[in-house]
Amino acid sequence: MSLDRSLKIAPSILSADFADFGREIEAVEAQGADWIHVDVMDGHFVPNLTFGPPLVAAIRKHIKTVMDVHLMIAPVDPYIDAFAQAGADYLTAHVESGPHIHRTLQAIRAAGCKAGVALNPGTPAEAVAELLDLVDLVCVMTVNPGFGGQSFIDMTGKVRALRSMIGDRPVHIEIDGGVTPATAPLVRAAGADVLVAGSAVFKGGSVADPVPYGANMRAIRTACDTAV
Ligand code: DX5
Ligand code: ZN
Repeated sequence: MSLDRSLKIAPSILSADFADFGREIEAVEAQGADWIHVDVMDGHFVPNLTFGPPLVAAIRKHIKTVMDVHLMIAPVDPYIDAFAQAGADYLTAHVESGPHIHRTLQAIRAAGCKAGVALNPGTPAEAVAELLDLVDLVCVMTVNPGFGGQSFIDMTGKVRALRSMIGDRPVHIEIDGGVTPATAPLVRAAGADVLVAGSAVFKGGSVADPVPYGANMRAIRTACDTAV
């Protein structure tokens, strides 16, 4: 069966209310989110700290769609089993996180998760050329990782190159950082199918008033539909 390359929006809970993740996730899913993107940061690989496996396990039961865990940590390997047990569907490690990304991706699959590999803006598409049979997802960072709400860095050339390298392999292309109705059509047209968006989805809404979450996601979808 061929891979579902239809557009999927993955709100990043980095832009949600940290004191109310359960209800935020339920609200954004009810408003049409396809996946939920969970940003794990260690204050070492990236200059910010978020949360670890216990919180990921606690929010798992609130996610009915797909739990997409983005590890911005180094090293990765000592934590793979803990995040797998926490219920991650996709577990994504950075190609820059250490010298043995191949081993890391093997370990993620061995732990029962789908494996993703992420590339920082400064890393070329060729860095994952030997990894494409080991992954289910390639995440192209369109900001330098660490913070939500940054401006989009144009990586459409890299997305196009990856789309061609991936060919018929069942590998998603995910875009992470600065996705808005203005930038989404560029990466969608270049071949991306999963769009992570934090600030552009959560802005203007809340658990008490979640309708803007739906409107924000529709604006991204409509912009992609009308552009393609
Ligand atoms: C950045 C994170 C992103 C971030 C995206 O390091 O990996 O997932 O939450 O946030 P926005 O959509 O606001 O750029
Ligand atoms: Zn992310």
